Amino acid sequence: MSAVSAVSLAPESRPPWVRTITEEDLPPLSRLDEEVFAEHAYPYFVLRQLYDLHGDQLLVLDDGDSLVGYVLVGTQSDKSRSWILGLGIDSGSRGRGFGRQLMAEALRRLRAEGVGEVRLTVEPANTAAVELYESLGFARLDHHENYFGPGDARLVMTLPLRR
Ligand SMILES: CC(C)(COP(=O)(O)OP(=O)(O)OC[C@H]1O[C@@H](n2cnc3c(N)ncnc32)[C@H](O)[C@@H]1OP(=O)(O)O)[C@@H](O)C(=O)NCCC(=O)NCCS
Repeated sequence: MSAVSAVSLAPESRPPWVRTITEEDLPPLSRLDEEVFAEHAYPYFVLRQLYDLHGDQLLVLDDGDSLVGYVLVGTQSDKSRSWILGLGIDSGSRGRGFGRQLMAEALRRLRAEGVGEVRLTVEPANTAAVELYESLGFARLDHHENYFGPGDARLVMTLPLRR
């Protein structure tokens, strides 16, 4: 047995890893998005078109068997600003650092691309997400009472990437 194979992990023991999505990921990504966001999930055709537009900015966390989570990013053409368009972790896998892992990798890639700022929206009562974003350096920018329509409030948060 070579030194390399002696230290390599068996596939089932490999920790989940972040990777760019493929076309084959779209059906399981859509199922996971529906599991996480229920009636607020993206319709399949929207995920499809996000993939067609900029699939290289859609990241999934893969455990070798299924998708554990995802983060969807969109960047303005002049790279002045990106938006986090979605972040979700499978309900059975939360609280294990996966949301932080996905966000950290998304931010690392945006910094490497020279993007100036990242924004996102989050339900004001979503404590877990707000605490995650604040721990990553996001600050509260605005509170829109009707951001996604009447009574559908969102907190807008921002993180400058260029200092
Ligand atoms: C929000 C979400 C993505 C967090 O993912 P996660 O993998 O469970 O989070 P992590 O284990 O990486 O935790 C990272 C941080 O999030 C915060 N956090 C996570 N769960 C929390 C909870 N139940 N209560 C308060 N803060 C929490 C903490 O600040 C935590 O920091 P720590 O690493 O010091 O503990 C996940 O709960 C989720 O998918 N929720 C449903 C979808 C959603 O709300 N998406 C965001 C929409 S804007």
